[in-house]
Amino acid sequence: MTMAESTEQRKSRHLDVCLDEDVASRLDAGWDAVRLRHEALPEIALADVDVSTAFLGLPLRAPILISSMTGGTSRAAEINRRLARGAEAAGIAFALGSGRAMLEDDGLRATFDVRPAAPNVVLFANLGAVQLNYGVGTDDARRLVDRLGANGLYLHLNPLQEALQAGGDTNFRALEPKIAALCAALDVPVIAKSVGSGIAPSTAARLLRCGVAAIDVAGAGGTSWARVEGKRADDPARERIAEAFGDWGYATPRATAALRGALPDVPLIASGGIRDGVQIAKALALGADVAGLALPFLRAAEESDAAVTGLIDELVTALRIALFVTGSRTVVDVREALV
Ligand SMILES: Cc1cc2nc3c(=O)[nH]c(=O)nc-3n(C[C@H](O)[C@H](O)[C@H](O)COP(=O)(O)O)c2cc1C
Repeated sequence: MTMAESTEQRKSRHLDVCLDEDVASRLDAGWDAVRLRHEALPEIALADVDVSTAFLGLPLRAPILISSMTGGTSRAAEINRRLARGAEAAGIAFALGSGRAMLEDDGLRATFDVRPAAPNVVLFANLGAVQLNYGVGTDDARRLVDRLGANGLYLHLNPLQEALQAGGDTNFRALEPKIAALCAALDVPVIAKSVGSGIAPSTAARLLRCGVAAIDVAGAGGTSWARVEGKRADDPARERIAEAFGDWGYATPRATAALRGALPDVPLIASGGIRDGVQIAKALALGADVAGLALPFLRAAEESDAAVTGLIDELVTALRIALFVTGSRTVVDVREALV
């Protein structure tokens, strides 16, 4: 954050850049190469397919998460309410954007507080892990979770994004003990995520040793945060540096498979570039428990409540069909459908 730009201004600009500019990674993430069995004789009815699940003990009617995006501006307040209402009605999970702005100014709480609109949604708060080196303490994190009535806390790991921001928070020294202290102090689970660059199995293992309860790969292939920061940069050299990292990171399908292979029992979310229900089915087949999408939900929420509901319906319908035609009755059965 530069001195001239408040967290609130930065967040609003992020929304504009993500909505108005091409910020997609150009990496071929490899979803087409992930093939699922086609079962011509599934021996079940489409109506038998059950996509419900539980994540960290929290019941979901479908294994889908609206990934962390926003908060801190009045525009964000409406987006968050629309997303939360849609998630609650459909029984999917919803993650808020970084709550740092609310910690800096409690007057912004209403822009994050979706509990009045969605009393029962599975809800995650969000903070940048690096903020633990910039004055955010365990008490702050607890306050965030408590005030928002969140079921868990996302900690995002974004060294690339911070390095590409003018005046970004780039001191990532010795965060592990702070993450461990945070996990020990909170009554709710902590989930570690990237922001579109992925998490390697060795890093995930270190996070789990800190007490993190779940990993969200948030891999490459979707929204590119390097590209977002590049579009935001006001100097051409910074823009070129950011663009050089435009396709950086571990592609989501491979990174998901690698994490599941290395950590058979970890609660795992696949996200980053997931755009339809077939990709959700593929993510589950690769070992994810839940699949997350961010930017498509931002576009829908900008439009209307109906657009959010419509997108969720479309994702769930395609996921159910994918399970049906692989002969999978449940989200666990589809793990057998990889070819
Ligand atoms: C407008 C916008 C704001 C975001 N803000 C956050 C954030 O505050 N915290 C976070 O962990 N991730 C944030 N992300 C990253 C997303 O959660 C997600 O990891 C990334 O966009 C990749 O998913 P996608 O390809 O489905 O968009 C943001 C994404 C978008 C599009």
